Amino acid sequence: MRQAGRYLPEYGELRRQAGSFLTLCYTPELAVEVTLQPVKRFGMDAAILFSDILVVPDALGVEVTFGNGNGPCLTPVRTLQDIAALRPERMQHHLAPVYTAAERVAQALPEGVALIGFAGAPWTVACYMVEGRGGAFTAAKLWAFGKPEEFQRLIDVLVEATAEHLIEQARRGAEAVQLFDSWAGILPSSEFERWCIAPTRSVVQRFKAIWPDVPVIGFPRGTGCMLRSYAEATGVDAVSVDSGVSAEWAARELQPRWAIQGNLDPVYLLVGGTELTDRIRAILDALGDGPFVFNLGHGVLPGTPPGNVALLVEAVRAWRPRGEEATGR
Ligand code: CP3
Repeated sequence: MRQAGRYLPEYGELRRQAGSFLTLCYTPELAVEVTLQPVKRFGMDAAILFSDILVVPDALGVEVTFGNGNGPCLTPVRTLQDIAALRPERMQHHLAPVYTAAERVAQALPEGVALIGFAGAPWTVACYMVEGRGGAFTAAKLWAFGKPEEFQRLIDVLVEATAEHLIEQARRGAEAVQLFDSWAGILPSSEFERWCIAPTRSVVQRFKAIWPDVPVIGFPRGTGCMLRSYAEATGVDAVSVDSGVSAEWAARELQPRWAIQGNLDPVYLLVGGTELTDRIRAILDALGDGPFVFNLGHGVLPGTPPGNVALLVEAVRAWRPRGEEATGR
């Protein structure tokens, strides 16, 4: 998560060259290079396409800007007229550079290194669209809980757009896709099925109709004990778990049926040293024997020393399942 980004000096250089974050996303030469930077430096097993979840609203015609360090800023979508003004037919043309980048990354990656495509889940993208920025997303919740039949129309547009976006990334070479529902955790349990599970299930169904064998990873951040019903009801192949869930719980409750991804708190990458490597080993001891993608519970933080990411990769590679420590497998 955010394995490419501001903690890498080589990213900063290309970011300056591009001028704006979205120019970086929409310039295939630069997006390809940024995607490959962490893989070249650290040798991860997978690259995640360098892009953003907010390119979808941008493609739909909502103005999106990223101020330096202030997070995203969007023209808010607050009325039925605003929803009617969205332009799904622009998607393919507007996102063509993203797909070109995906295709070139897939070609450039060494044998055995996977490309992961992604999109924001409808609820999380709707949160940013309604609010117009990050925050508590009270305006989005107010609309969803107060006038659900109106808010549903926005979700319906996003379900189609998100599925289309993922399908095209797979067509261009993404070998797995991830749905980021970063704000699923702000939904009360009474609204969870309608705004997190149901739209995600619709996206997964549309995607699987075209790409039945491409794995879908779901990441409903901050949803704790709801993860099981999320995985059951949405049809995802793998669940990405944040650091609020213990690796042992995920191993017991989820891993028998779903591949797991996670769940190191990114702050351990600021701490470094044996605190970092002990935590990595504990996660692997709990989850490493089953289908598991070692990852963070959320994005790499700016200011993370790149040396600590190198230490992480080394610690993950050195780990062996119990009973096999001495065999050197
Ligand atoms: O390496 C990767 O993980 C791939 C690229 C990627 C980015 N954003 C690049 C990025 C991915 C997968 C995302 C997903 C994303 N974007 C999410 C879901 C994951 C999460 O973090 O919960 C969300 C909510 C967004 C929306 C978004 N984009 C925000 C809130 C911000 C501002 C955050 C900040 O710290 O400034 C961004 C900007 C962004 N997206 C950056 C990067 C590298 C930093 C932009 C910069 O260079 O200034």
